[in-house]
Amino acid sequence: MEELLRVKKTPNEVIKKRPFNIDLVKKDFPILDIKVNGKPLVYLDNAATTQKPEIVIESIKHYYTHENANVHRGLHFLSEAATSAFENARMKVKEFLNAMSTSEIIFVKGATEAINLIANTMCRAGWIKAGDEIIISHMEHHANIVPWQLMCKRNGAKLRVIPIDDNGELILDDFENMFSEKTKMVSVVHASNSLGTINDVETITNIAHKYDVPVLLDGSQAVAHFPIDVQKLNCDFYVFSGHKIFGPTGIGVLYGRTKYLNELPPYQGGGDMIRKVTFEETTFEDLPNKFEAGTPNIVGGIGLAVALKYLNSFDYKDLLKHEEELLKYATEKLLEVEGLKIIGTAKHKVSVCSFIIDGIHPYDIGTIIDTEGVAIRTGHHCTQPIMQRYNLPATARASFSFYNSKEDVDVLVNALNKVKKLFG
Ligand code: ALA
Repeated sequence: MEELLRVKKTPNEVIKKRPFNIDLVKKDFPILDIKVNGKPLVYLDNAATTQKPEIVIESIKHYYTHENANVHRGLHFLSEAATSAFENARMKVKEFLNAMSTSEIIFVKGATEAINLIANTMCRAGWIKAGDEIIISHMEHHANIVPWQLMCKRNGAKLRVIPIDDNGELILDDFENMFSEKTKMVSVVHASNSLGTINDVETITNIAHKYDVPVLLDGSQAVAHFPIDVQKLNCDFYVFSGHKIFGPTGIGVLYGRTKYLNELPPYQGGGDMIRKVTFEETTFEDLPNKFEAGTPNIVGGIGLAVALKYLNSFDYKDLLKHEEELLKYATEKLLEVEGLKIIGTAKHKVSVCSFIIDGIHPYDIGTIIDTEGVAIRTGHHCTQPIMQRYNLPATARASFSFYNSKEDVDVLVNALNKVKKLFG
């Protein structure tokens, strides 16, 4: 803890790699120690939001206790401390994504705001006009459907949808045939929150770039599970939410290629994004400030950077191995529950298991296992088109993180067997 507490004060300091030890890792997350309905909490709703390590919680307290001031505005000690902490956080995100420059990192509220920003500013820039087409996929969550749909309604553009097969994999055979001179944007999810599928986004990006079409990747579910390198992915935009990667809520990231971000107009107007304001005209700041109107979520950015730093204190190989083993174990154990079917059986998956059980509504499953202290999500997971594709009203979803153990899976499976017994 002593070492971790030191980390929070200097988000960019390199810390020694720690060996991965699941018992010690669990201790880093205070909430994992609570009891729910008299039973130890087993938190398996990580696709909805992840829990926060103590150093992230402490960094928020530290900021408000020692550094709180507005950023980019004052010359006094605290304002400079806050500005430096916030801009260091941006540097940390740049390193995490392997972006070329901090001017490519825009702090936003979350992935949803990032996608709305791109859809709206592209439309205002006249990049997408009546009759033009935007390609998304059948496995998007609502955040990567509705902003584009709203934009299409406004300017008469059309959505094209890459289909998925029964395993929950994108059918890319016809993807290239979807392109024409009308195609102006491709926006697809890196890893599906409902099905777990990891998409072959490099292939998607390569094809789109042959037609000079920019690609946005929604990394909301990918970032907490494997390393991201936007230069290697060769995407034009990459978005994610801080709360899904052990950071605070209300902070997220839009990565954008400088050439596009420079050409797009500001999304919102206000303080901090301007250079000169008169009643006749306003000129705007350079990147990234141009897209950050008003006082930003300073503590959110700092907390997110500490979360990324916490993640970097492990060797990614260890985390990947642990989660792969966990997914394999969970899949095998869940399939032993009579009548259980997994929805989403792609070859490459993050550790997400959506499932249904014959004759039992997912809401009943979720409610009953909650009495055993087990938290999963039930419903449509903000992906109603996926439910329509599988003709299901809802699924139950256990989504894992590296702080989950095989014992957590055993508790889940025992709880599910109790549900089975209850329903005879
Ligand atoms: N999209 C989030 C989920 O998968 C909220 O639960």
